[in-house]
Amino acid sequence: MWPKDVGIKAIEVYFPAQYIEQAELEQFDGVSSGKYTIGLGQSRMGFCNDREDINSLCLTVVHRLMDRYNIKPQDVGRLEVGTETIIDKSKSVKSVLMQLFEPHGCTDIEGADTTNACYGGTAALLNAVSWVESSAWDGRLALVVAGDNAVYSTGSARPTGGAGAIAMVVGPDAPLIIDRGIRSSCMKHAYDFYKPNLTSEYPVVDGQLSIKCYISALDNCYQTYCKKVKNKHNDSVTLDNFDSFLFHSPYCKLVQKSFARLAFIDFLNTPKEKISKQYPELAKFHDVKLEETYFDKDIEKAFINLSKTDFFQKTQPSLLIANQVGNMYTPSVYSGLASLLISKPMTELAGAKVGIFSYGSGFCSTMYSLTITENSKEGSDLMKIISSVSYIKQELDARQKISPADYTKILEWREQNCHTVPFSPQSSINDMFPGTYYLAQVDEKYRRIYKRV
Ligand SMILES: CC(C)(COP(=O)(O)OP(=O)(O)OC[C@H]1O[C@@H](n2cnc3c(N)ncnc32)[C@H](O)[C@@H]1OP(=O)(O)O)[C@@H](O)C(=O)NCCC(=O)NCCS
Repeated sequence: MWPKDVGIKAIEVYFPAQYIEQAELEQFDGVSSGKYTIGLGQSRMGFCNDREDINSLCLTVVHRLMDRYNIKPQDVGRLEVGTETIIDKSKSVKSVLMQLFEPHGCTDIEGADTTNACYGGTAALLNAVSWVESSAWDGRLALVVAGDNAVYSTGSARPTGGAGAIAMVVGPDAPLIIDRGIRSSCMKHAYDFYKPNLTSEYPVVDGQLSIKCYISALDNCYQTYCKKVKNKHNDSVTLDNFDSFLFHSPYCKLVQKSFARLAFIDFLNTPKEKISKQYPELAKFHDVKLEETYFDKDIEKAFINLSKTDFFQKTQPSLLIANQVGNMYTPSVYSGLASLLISKPMTELAGAKVGIFSYGSGFCSTMYSLTITENSKEGSDLMKIISSVSYIKQELDARQKISPADYTKILEWREQNCHTVPFSPQSSINDMFPGTYYLAQVDEKYRRIYKRV
C-alpha cells in the first residue's frame, strides 16, 4: 500500500531584499516604453548582490521553512536540491545544506542535486514523492529545495532575470496532494539556452528558439496528458477540468500565451461542426498544423482573446511573484503555487484541481496535477499552509529599490569576482531580511563561509 495523499505539506519562498523597476530599466536600456512592462508583462526584477549565492539562498529558505513549521532536523529523511546555478562542479548545494542538520547529529539524509535549467526543482520534487511512495521510505519527511540566481548579460534577455529559492516539505496526508497515475513529459535535445562557459554566470541564449521549444514542449505534454487520460479513463480533458493552471514563467506574457495555447489545442480537439456553430469566425483555424503555428500572431491573438476570462480566473493569480521578482528559474513554477495560495480565497482553493507545466531549457518538461484538500476547517493543514505564506506580500513591498545603473555595476562586479580568491564581499548586510544567510568570505582554497543576519 502507498501512503495516503502524498504531496506538499509546507512551502517557503525566499527572494533577495532588493529589486529594480522594469519601467526604469526600459529607460536605462533605451528600449521603447512598455517593452518589458507590457510586452513581457514584468513589473520588477529581484537580484543578488555579492552577499548572496546559490548556497546562501538555499540555506536561508531551508532554515526559514524549518523555523516556520517547527520541523526538527530528526524529522527529515531526504533532502534534495534542484538548481542550475553551479558554483562548484563537484560539491553539491545539498552537502552545504547539511550544515543545518549535522550539528544535531543528523547525517542519515538521502538526496543530492539535480540539474537541467529551470526543470531541476520538478525533478527533485518527483524524486521526493517517489521516495515517500517507495520501499525505502522510513516515515520521515522529504525536503525539496529549488533555487537559482538568474542573470543575463546585457541585451534583450537581461530583463527576464530574477533570483530566489523555494523549499517544500513532501510527505503523506498533505493539503496539496500530487495526483497519482497521470503525468506526461517531453524531453528533447536543443541548444535553446545553455551555460557552456564555466567561467561566467551568464547563459548562451537563443531567445526565439527558447520560446519555440517552450511552446512545443507545452503542446506535446498537454496532448500526451490528454491521450493518457483517454486511454486510462476513456475521458476527455480540456481546460475545464482544471480550476487553476500553473506554468513555468520566463516572463508573464509567455504564460498568458501558453494558457491561450492550451485553449487552442482544446479547440483543435473539438469537432469542426461544433466549432463552426460555436465560433464561426475561428473555424478557419481548425485545419492548421499545430507545429506550424508557434509564432502565428493571428491565432495567438484570437485565442488570447477567447481564453481571457479563464486566464484571469485560473492562471493570473499565480503570477504575483513572477511579476514582482522575475524568472527565478527552478523555483518559478512553485512560486506560482505560492502566489495562488495567497491570491485566491479559501472557498476557491479547497478541493481545487491544479494543472502544472514545468519547463527547463535544453530541454526537459513535465505536466502533472495536484488536488487541494477539501478540508479547510479552522486549524486544518490547508489553513496552516495558507497562513504560513501570508508574509510574502509584505516582503515583496519591503524590498529596497536599486537603480538600473547600480544594478549594472553590481553585475559587473559579480562578473569580475565570481572566481576571485580570496574574496571579501562588499555589499552591506543592513538591508537584508532578518534570518538571511550571507557570504562572509571566500578563502584562498575557494571555501565559502556563510553567516546569518
Ligand atoms: C524573450 C526574449 C526573446 C524577448 O526579447 P526580444 O526579442 O528583444 O523582445 P521582442 O522584440 O520580441 O519584444 C517582446 C514583446 O514585447 C512587445 N513590445 C515591444 N515593445 C513594446 C512596447 N513599447 N510596448 C508594448 N509591447 C512591446 C513585442 O511586440 C513582443 O511581444 P510579442 O512577443 O507578443 O510579439 C528575451 O528577453 C530573451 O531571450 N529572454 C531569455 C529567454 C527566455 O526567457 N525564453 C523564454 C522561454 S524559456
